[in-house]
Amino acid sequence: MKKPTLASPPTRRARHPAAEAHVDFSRSMSYGDYLALDRLLACQQPRSAEHDELLFIIIHQATELWMKLVLHELRHATAQLRAGDLQPAFKGLARVSRIQAQLIQSWDVLSTMTPADYSRFRAALGQSSGFQSYQYRLIEFALGNKNAEMLAPHRHRPEIVAALQSALAAPSLYDEAIALLARRGFAIDDAVLARDRTRPHRAHPSVKAAWLEIYRDTARHWDLYELAEELVDLEDWFQQWRFRHMTTVTRIIGMKRGTGGTAGVAYLRHALDIRFFPELWDLRTEL
Ligand code: HEM
Repeated sequence: MKKPTLASPPTRRARHPAAEAHVDFSRSMSYGDYLALDRLLACQQPRSAEHDELLFIIIHQATELWMKLVLHELRHATAQLRAGDLQPAFKGLARVSRIQAQLIQSWDVLSTMTPADYSRFRAALGQSSGFQSYQYRLIEFALGNKNAEMLAPHRHRPEIVAALQSALAAPSLYDEAIALLARRGFAIDDAVLARDRTRPHRAHPSVKAAWLEIYRDTARHWDLYELAEELVDLEDWFQQWRFRHMTTVTRIIGMKRGTGGTAGVAYLRHALDIRFFPELWDLRTEL
């Protein structure tokens, strides 16, 4: 046998790292158990034999999962604003923006599907459409785009109507931001503070004046200035998502009507005019 020297240490056959891994899950929880993978991966049920339908289903399901997290973070951030805990709220809002960036990227994956690919299985969708995404409506309501008409497609599901009604009546993230401005001594008009929460917020001069004061003396109002920029980030990403949705849809179905019954691209273009935080955009012209 060769005597080991310093230059050539004793050779022991390295075991593959996987050999150390735990392999008996008959009595303990595995990765698949924890994530309920059997159930999760059984949720993709194409209605046609067309190759691209799986992509179509997965992109919608993945978006719904991210929306679930967005709602979770938005609810938390809204409660933190109410409590005046701005730093943890910023952390949650930054996370939402990163999720939005991820969702915008996913349009690139969907764009690999051509009009020819989609038209092969479109009839299988019937009248189903993202228009009926209740999580999307909950997000819009949480951000302040309140619209009671959006409850209509859910009339057959009372528990969803109840969740939407409660979100419709609740203060939005922006309502809490404005209430915070009032608590910090800015002169916010009572009509804004006592407004009907089931309707969208309309730009108000007293709110714009408060934000303008903050932007004109950022050092003095640093945390409110940071809050304003986090909100602008969020709305900016939201608009980019809407825009990429519209361009992807134009690319795939042209000017056809939507499966949800709207005019299609014209409806999506109209949605680009929605503003959650109008004063934060308006003030930029005056700075
Ligand atoms: C081939 C891909 C897609 C097409 C052709 C398409 C088409 C449309 C159209 C035409 C509308 C307007 C409502 C209607 O009449 O149906 C709509 C709404 C909507 N879609 Fe899509 N979509 C696609 C992919 C997606 C994906 C991947 C999502 C992600 C969940 C999504 C989410 C939504 C949402 C949330 C709305 C409601 C928007 C609003 O009311 O402002 N769509 N879609």
